[in-house]
This record gives sequence, C-alpha cells and structure tokens, in this order.
Amino acid sequence: MEMFLIRGGRTLSGTVRVGGSKNAALPILAASLAIPGAVVVHGVPQLRDVATMLELLNSMGVITEQLNGAVQVYASDEITTLAPYELVRQMRASVCVLGPLVARFGLAKVSLPGGCNIGHRPIDLHLKGLAALGADIQLTSGYVIARCRRLKGADIDLMGPSGPTVTGTCNVMSAATLAEGCTIIRNAAREPEVVDLARFLNSAGANIQGAGTETLEIHGVDSLHSVAHTVIPDRIEAGTLAVAAAITGGDITIQNAPVASITSFVELLSRMGLSVEALNDSLRIRTRSELRPVDFSAEPYPGIPTDLQAQLMALLALVPGESHVTDLVFPERFMHAAELVRLGADIRVHGNSAVIHGVEKLSGAPVMASDLRASAALVLAGLAAEGQTELRRIYHLDRGYQAFEKKLNSLGAVVERMQDPLSPTMSGPHFGTTARNAESPELDRVFDQR
Ligand code: EPZ
Repeated sequence: MEMFLIRGGRTLSGTVRVGGSKNAALPILAASLAIPGAVVVHGVPQLRDVATMLELLNSMGVITEQLNGAVQVYASDEITTLAPYELVRQMRASVCVLGPLVARFGLAKVSLPGGCNIGHRPIDLHLKGLAALGADIQLTSGYVIARCRRLKGADIDLMGPSGPTVTGTCNVMSAATLAEGCTIIRNAAREPEVVDLARFLNSAGANIQGAGTETLEIHGVDSLHSVAHTVIPDRIEAGTLAVAAAITGGDITIQNAPVASITSFVELLSRMGLSVEALNDSLRIRTRSELRPVDFSAEPYPGIPTDLQAQLMALLALVPGESHVTDLVFPERFMHAAELVRLGADIRVHGNSAVIHGVEKLSGAPVMASDLRASAALVLAGLAAEGQTELRRIYHLDRGYQAFEKKLNSLGAVVERMQDPLSPTMSGPHFGTTARNAESPELDRVFDQR
C-alpha cells in the first residue's frame, strides 16, 4: 500500500490545471451501455474509480480502449448484464449501470453497493424510479435483479430524506431515455454532472428537457446512437486546489475551473476574507489578511457541495475564532475530524454538525485516510502543518484525484509518494491497464472514422 510523506509549512503559488470531472465521467461511461454504437468520451480523468468502471464494463464483454486521453466504449448486443459484487463494492457509482442495462436489454443483475465510510447510502430511490418505469425489481442474495420487456414513461418523484439523489437521477434519467412515452422526474438532482450526462445522452439521440432544474421531462426514443462527448471539468478538484492556496497562505491560479458551478463555494471563500478573482475559466485565489471564521451547511446543488466539506473544515481549523459546519447531505461525513484533531485541530462533532475553534498551528503526525474527500482534507492540513505528516491509505485519494501530489508539488509543495513500510502492497485496477479487450474489425472501422 502507498502513503504520502508531506513536508508542511510551504506557501503554494503558481498555475495549475483542473482535470475532467470524475462524477460526470462515471455515469456517462455507465450510460454508454444503453448505446449500441461506438462511444468516445474525451477528458476522462485517469483515476482509480474510472479504472474500476472500465473493468466493470469489460467484465460484461464491453470493449473499451484508452487513446490520447479519450476513452472509447463499444457495448454490442451480445454483452452480459451482470455487475458483480467484487467490483460494485469497490465503487458505488457502479450502480449507475442498472438503468441503462434494463432499458436496453430488459434485464440487469447488479450487486447492492454495501456500506460506505461517509454514511448509510441506500439506493431505494434508484429502485423506486425504475419500478415506476415498469421494471420488476427483485432483491436476491445481495443483488438487485431488474426485468422489463420495455420500460414505460411515468411521473416520478425522486426526493429523498436528505434531498435529491445525484446518481439516482442519473440512473432513472438514463433508463427513461428508452422508455415508451414521456417520463417526468420531479425533485431531480441539479448538479452539473447530471446536466453533463443529459447533454451526452441528448447528443446520442435522447430527448431530455429541463436538465439542471428540479423537473426533467424525457420523451423516450427507440434507440440511441454513436456519440463523441467531452466531460466537464471537475468542480470538486477545483475547490480542493483553491483550499490548498488558502490553507498555505498562497497565490494560485486554477485553469479550466468551472467557476459558474462553484459560486456558493467561492462566495464562502470571499466571506472568509480570501481574494477570489474569476477570469473566464480561471480562478485566482490569494490570501490577503487574517481569515474570518464562518458557519456553513453542505447542501444539494447549488449549495456548498458536501464533497468540499472536509477540505473546508481543514481550512477552518486554522482560522481564529469559532466556525460551525453542518452536512445536510451526509450527516455522518465527519471521519476526517478525528484525524485533523491528531494534527492539533480543535474540532468537536455533534450529530450532523461540527464546531471548530481555530488554532495557531497544526503539527505534522501520522494520519489515516478513510474516504476520498477526507484524504484530500488531510493532504491539505499536512501542507499547512509544521513538520512532516505521514498519510496512509492514499488509495482513497487516487480514486478521485489524478496525480494530485504532482499538481501540488508543481506549486511548491513537497509531497512524496512511497510504499508504506508498515503495510502489504495494494493491488487493484489502475487506469491505463485496461486495453481494448478484444480485436474488433467493426470497432476499428467505427472508431477510425472519428
Ligand atoms: C453522488 O453520490 C456523488 N458521487 C458523491 O460524490 C456526492 O457526495 C453525492 O452525489 C452528493 O452530492 C458520484 O456522483 C459518483 P446521492 P450519490 O444519491 O449519488 C440519500 C465523491 O466524493 N439517498 O445524491 O451516491 C443518500 O443517503 C462522492 O466524489 C437515499 O436516501 O449521492 C444521501 O443522504 C462521494 N436513497 C443523499 O440521498 C437513495 O436511493 C444524497 O445522496 C439515494 C440516495
């Protein structure tokens, strides 16, 4: 298993570029299963989660290939429709294959995702939506089996106890593109990643209206067709890099930043006293003076993203005064708090909220990553801490950030990736190892035309 050695106390400055969005790429790759022709997706980030998704598609007999930063997908009529536990348990977003499979093939057997460190993450809303479209849903031995000759349009409300569901909206929206008649999805998720998926599906011949609003209207079509698409930039990586500037007292320009999709986050940074300048698709973050404590709640889009809550908590740990952080999306998403306390932070968690009293300094120490965004928060805290921080289990970080230490080191950080002498080596899918899994004259012909 790998770990980071982070030498803290250095100010970051310079220019860095944001990659493609993980949370847009994953549902788009899953939705490719609904398309009988060749699909080319540009701007897919090279991440562990993407490698897992490609491994899942390959396990079904889908042909995939990575070429010059693009991912090519070809799901023929002969693929299988099983998503096995050993892959789904590695990545919850695998559940996004359910809707496309049952819509195109009339059958899908997908493992239930299981537990997660950021909270109880059921998929009841996904299943409610597919059942409303006419799918027969059976839960057997840890698997969801969905069957339907042809899905039929319906009026569906996807509101859950903590608001809309992002991947639930992706799943049901993808399925509805091939349903007979019109589907209305009420209380749909409005995240930019849902909008990007709708754009991808419409480019493939779907008829989805209202993406980005809480009500989607989808007119089913008989079939989708080949498509090429470029994934939107990753707003969460952009926000994470912005916090890296703030927490080290630096001056960073973030290129390819989706500024329009992080306005609530940018407003919060300004409220804290940071200088934030949006220049077309770049964001410049500078620290001008002592930062101010703030209170915020992580909410569904367009609120402050729960995926930036841990990173902001790391920043607030060093801001004098008392700040309050509440997570209304994942009420238990505070595993990072205890690790930040190990670095000297003063944080107390009560239910779905945390009270943070800013401290003068953090001190480097050995800490453990528990989930993707918690690991990002601990990297950021290590950058600011005095001395050296050892961050273990960085495979969590590699799920959602491509060569993150290289980006930070290009800005003046000193983060070293090394084998953890205290743990066995970690095996698992890595992006780039998934080559085309079969020669296909048809595939060559189709892809070579692009
Ligand atoms: C997506 O997860 C993202 N993942 C998450 O990012 C993100 O934190 C989350 O949306 C919220 O924005 C991907 O897009 C791959 P939800 P998702 O369904 O879709 C409850 C990261 O770090 N709920 O929107 O699984 C659920 O428990 C990851 O990149 C139900 O009750 O989240 C939660 O409280 C972490 N029933 C709330 O809704 C359901 O059927 C929002 O969950 C589904 C969800």
